Amino acid sequence: MKIIGPDYLVFGVDNVDACVQYLTDYGLKPGKLDEAGGYLEALDGTGIEIRHRDDPRLPKAMETANTLRETVYGVADEATLQAIEAELSKDRTVVRGEDGVLRAVDDMGFALGFRITLRRPLAMPGEINNAPGAELSRAINSLGASDDMPALPRSLSHVVYFVPDHAKAEAFYTRLGFVCTDRFVDTGPFLRPAGTQDHHTLFLIQTPPFMKGIEHFTFHMGGPTEVMIAGTRFVEKGYESFWGPGRHQLGSNWFWYFNSPMGCHVEYDADMDLHDERWTARVAPPGADNSQYFLFHYQEKWAPGGPPPKH
Ligand SMILES: [Fe+2]
Repeated sequence: MKIIGPDYLVFGVDNVDACVQYLTDYGLKPGKLDEAGGYLEALDGTGIEIRHRDDPRLPKAMETANTLRETVYGVADEATLQAIEAELSKDRTVVRGEDGVLRAVDDMGFALGFRITLRRPLAMPGEINNAPGAELSRAINSLGASDDMPALPRSLSHVVYFVPDHAKAEAFYTRLGFVCTDRFVDTGPFLRPAGTQDHHTLFLIQTPPFMKGIEHFTFHMGGPTEVMIAGTRFVEKGYESFWGPGRHQLGSNWFWYFNSPMGCHVEYDADMDLHDERWTARVAPPGADNSQYFLFHYQEKWAPGGPPPKH
């Protein structure tokens, strides 16, 4: 089953305007929007759909405070859709909607959709470093960073769920061809489906049942400098940093997390490891020491400043 990763996430929120503004400032491009919400997309067309929590078009809310209503996966081909339908029809209702999306609910109660991916192929360079001995370097007179450099989300990377039973949740996604890339003991696995080599498109974290829902989602950026630039611009717009910037250990992805009006965290990431079937999953105890190689803190001023004293 060639599931590529999440194409888009659907939220039911209290304050549509605040969420649309937040995601626009984060770097997504608003598409068709009205007072009832709409769709905001990254450069490859993946994105976030925002609706009011009472919008009748939304799938049913969970029993918790979670605002995520649906995770819609992009798949490579019709054969994958048929394979998913055959597998999930064994023990649950599966419906193919007028929008072409195949819908079912996972074993934890998360509403899922599957469709032929809407991702547009991107042809853009990633970040290139100048390093002694390296063959690839930036062109002469080309700057590594600048105040006006673009730093826009390229593609929806991954989603993280709080689940009450990580083993049961993992068993469900295994049926859809997800494999464990790495694992935090007694916490949960980093999972990747068969249609991508990204370290993870889904991470499961075991929590008490009342916390069930989305913990965060992330879009890939072009490199660590874009994570820093986009995150700094976001801070300067007044948004609150939650964790980062830093670099994760499992996955090696650079990260910067922010609080959001959707009630979950929202991350920028870059340069995640790629894996295939030759990889052996690592197992590590959870905790800050195993979650980051290093962590920076935003500092508005690095030196004393202001006018000289009058006397
Ligand atoms: Fe993440």
